Amino acid sequence: MIQLLASTRSKEYPVFLSSGSLPELGSLWRAQGKSGRVIMITDSNVAGIHLPAARESFEREGFTVETLVVEAGEDAKSLDRAAELYDELYRLGARRRDTVCAFGGGVVGDLAGFVASTYMRGIGLIQVPTTLLAQVDSSIGGKVGVNIAAAKNYVGSFYQPDMVLADPSLLRTLPRGQLQEGLAEIVKYALLGGEEFFAALESSSEGFLELDMAFVEPVIRRCIEYKLKVVAEDERDYGRRAVLNLGHTVAHGIEAAG
Ligand SMILES: NC(=O)c1ccc[n+]([C@@H]2O[C@H](COP(=O)([O-])OP(=O)(O)OC[C@H]3O[C@@H](n4cnc5c(N)ncnc54)[C@H](O)[C@@H]3O)[C@@H](O)[C@H]2O)c1
Repeated sequence: MIQLLASTRSKEYPVFLSSGSLPELGSLWRAQGKSGRVIMITDSNVAGIHLPAARESFEREGFTVETLVVEAGEDAKSLDRAAELYDELYRLGARRRDTVCAFGGGVVGDLAGFVASTYMRGIGLIQVPTTLLAQVDSSIGGKVGVNIAAAKNYVGSFYQPDMVLADPSLLRTLPRGQLQEGLAEIVKYALLGGEEFFAALESSSEGFLELDMAFVEPVIRRCIEYKLKVVAEDERDYGRRAVLNLGHTVAHGIEAAG
């Protein structure tokens, strides 16, 4: 198991990375000295594939687990959906000692993270990213939020999780297009990381797309380490963190035009 340390002004937390590590989620959370209930927020695709294993890992450690499922897709990242989740949390009697586990891609991570950051002024948060993009990027660094009708990611907060667990074996069920999207985010890191990283990525991209873990794990690790370093320097995006937007300005233009 690879264990990295996220160190920001607001919080320090462990980031675990290992293929096949999902069954250890509950014991890793227990090892942080945590109790209380775990409320898993996931989407309709991930719920049907990986949720049972995640639930079971918490239950084995004696945690009571509740599950809230949102419809898969970017539309879930809305204030309406967040409001529904607040109501669900209230109905479940969730309190500040309870924890939200965001179990899914970047959409679930951003939405559930935002809900955790605002419900009762902030409750515990575990990020368990299940897409490549979320494992290398969105689950790390504490940016959480939702879209408004006019613009993407306009409402949100900086809210660091208490723990992150990335299990790259979950990527085996990811549609290939999603895997390629995540790889594009990795190309960004490779461009930022310098020639050696870029060359290493180029020579391993085939093995990567076949999800050979000998290629996948070291690359994901490098990306996480890069992001942790940037976020440690500039948690709230006043300067250095802007490098992580490399390519986004052009891409947003293309997206808008399309
Ligand atoms: N907070 C940040 O720092 C940050 C950074 C980058 C992107 N983002 C946000 O991330 C979002 C995009 O995230 P995404 O690309 O992960 O999309 P996503 O969360 O919509 O997931 C993509 C699709 O894959 C499915 N899926 C997820 N895990 C799966 C698995 N293991 N097996 C099978 N299917 C699976 C989902 O149900 C969904 O249909 C955007 O809203 C973007 O704004 C946030």
